[in-house]
Amino acid sequence: MTAPVNPTMPPPLETARLILRPFEDRDRDAFAALVADPEVMRFFPAPLDRARSDALIDRLEAHRAAALAAFPALELKATGECIGFAGLHASVMPGTDAPCVEVGWRLARPAWGQGYATEAARADIARGFAPRAEGGLDLAEIVAFAVAANAPSLAVMERLGMTRDPADDFALPDFPPGHPHRAGALYRLRACDFAPDR
Ligand SMILES: CC(C)(COP(=O)(O)OP(=O)(O)OC[C@H]1O[C@@H](n2cnc3c(N)ncnc32)[C@H](O)[C@@H]1OP(=O)(O)O)[C@@H](O)C(=O)NCCC(=O)NCCS
Repeated sequence: MTAPVNPTMPPPLETARLILRPFEDRDRDAFAALVADPEVMRFFPAPLDRARSDALIDRLEAHRAAALAAFPALELKATGECIGFAGLHASVMPGTDAPCVEVGWRLARPAWGQGYATEAARADIARGFAPRAEGGLDLAEIVAFAVAANAPSLAVMERLGMTRDPADDFALPDFPPGHPHRAGALYRLRACDFAPDR
């Protein structure tokens, strides 16, 4: 099995309030600030310093340049500022090397509680399920993973109509056995179950 690819760099996607696009150098300060915030990074092993933040942007853009789906930067139309990322990313299923496309999000704290993650994810999922002839990825399924205790992230998955089968729960290798964040939840959404206008 090969990883699903975008045949070309996908064009930016617009929603009512957001633009989903590649990261640009002008995003680096805002992104570094959000990944340095311990509250944003509560369910990750640690906040990131500037070098690791820049390296993450570089990895995402290298992924995109290799024609793989990569978490898109989110630009707030009203201000032009980058508030984080949300959308599709070509990945592998936890604990395996089986390719999958996941949907994920990481937003600056002031951008929480306004529906931005769900709005962006829903638009990128619609593109993921669209036929290739319409610029989509023609995917049959999109997944999402999170620390099971990350209630805000699980709530986004549920708003998107994704469902969790406890049989898919997994252990996150980033955390040692016994750590409260080691338990991972996996949610799935099949193309036939997606309601773009929920
Ligand atoms: C996970 C994360 C993106 C969720 O953010 P969020 O703001 O709760 O999610 P959304 O952007 O979808 O916003 C939904 C909330 O906005 C509210 N909202 C306000 N205005 C809204 C609008 N115009 N439209 C839709 N929802 C709106 C909703 O009611 C909901 O609030 P509630 O949770 O109190 O019910 C955020 O907590 C985050 O970035 N966390 C840190 C990084 C992280 O853990 N990422 C996930 C790793 S797996």
